Amino acid sequence: MYTIKDLQSIVEKELSAQQFVEQPEGLYLPIEYILGVGGKRIRPTLCLAGCYLFNDEIKPAIKPALGLEIFHNFTLLHDDVMDNADVRRNQATVHIKWNPNTAILSGDAMLIKAYQYIADLNTNSLPSVMALFNQTALEVCEGQQYDMEFETRQDVSVDEYMKMIRLKTAVLLAGSLKTGAIIGGASDEQANLLYEFGENIGLGFQLQDDYLDVYGDVETFGKAIGGDIVANKKTFMLINALQLASGDLRKKLDEWLIEENFDAAKKIEAVRAIYDKVGVADLAREKMHYYFNKAMQALNKVDGKEAMKEDLRQFALKLIERSR
Ligand code: IPE
Ligand code: IPE
Ligand code: MG
Ligand code: MG
Ligand code: MG
Repeated sequence: MYTIKDLQSIVEKELSAQQFVEQPEGLYLPIEYILGVGGKRIRPTLCLAGCYLFNDEIKPAIKPALGLEIFHNFTLLHDDVMDNADVRRNQATVHIKWNPNTAILSGDAMLIKAYQYIADLNTNSLPSVMALFNQTALEVCEGQQYDMEFETRQDVSVDEYMKMIRLKTAVLLAGSLKTGAIIGGASDEQANLLYEFGENIGLGFQLQDDYLDVYGDVETFGKAIGGDIVANKKTFMLINALQLASGDLRKKLDEWLIEENFDAAKKIEAVRAIYDKVGVADLAREKMHYYFNKAMQALNKVDGKEAMKEDLRQFALKLIERSR
């Protein structure tokens, strides 16, 4: 019998057993570097959990699970270039430790590696797993594009934001669970319920990421605090602040959004103070619980091992209450 903790350890063990470094090292060392310690391994763990819910045999899901983690880390390499982020998992990002071209090309190689790992599945589930992966990977790109386009818009609605984070983040958590469910032999209906669970925890998960980007502790979070504020990211918090701030407060916020030459620390402090005044943190927490509850409703309809379902409930709760 496996608990979700066991599955997490399996992921960690299997991942560290992989050999990523070949020639030229300049291409492969960054891959080993980013896949090294520090990640929470959420997606591969969810993939194995999705499989184990329906099947005692999780072995066929291991390589695809690792492929999903490799894909996730590929998106991080490119995301950190796009977001101009210098630190991840308390370490220099690849484009800083090496250079942007390295982040691009090692990232490309990781996307190909991800395909290799997923295609390692040699059961008749492969076509549907591959179709799901293709769709998910494209959706992540769509979400990332919206994320960038929103930086220069001031009229992004909460609905548009939710669509954006569904694409850039939630579909990969959902797709990871569903991949496992498909490999484990779940019915379409069951696999889709698990997808719905993952989608909703994914929305809560990104809301919490955006929250931590403002209110997190830099050491624990492992990423710079305030990066979203500096880049004018249209997060749930900024969108709400734009809607709720009035008078002088709104004017100040607008000024920070158009200011091109600024001291980053000053901007972060000033915008956070506006968030505090407007009370966006409470709104964000409320929103997270709304999606958490939706996730629970979907999970309740999932058949499969009751103990693993309970583990998934706890896991989902930890995701929206996490500090890293
Ligand atoms: C970071 O994902 C990117 C987002 C979708 C917020 P994680 O928070 O899962 O990053 P690691 O893998 O644990 O570092
Ligand atoms: C992450 O969004 C989405 C993807 C990596 C696809 P963020 O840009 O908020 O993620 P972090 O905060 O850099 O990890
Ligand atoms: Mg980003
Ligand atoms: Mg980022
Ligand atoms: Mg973030």
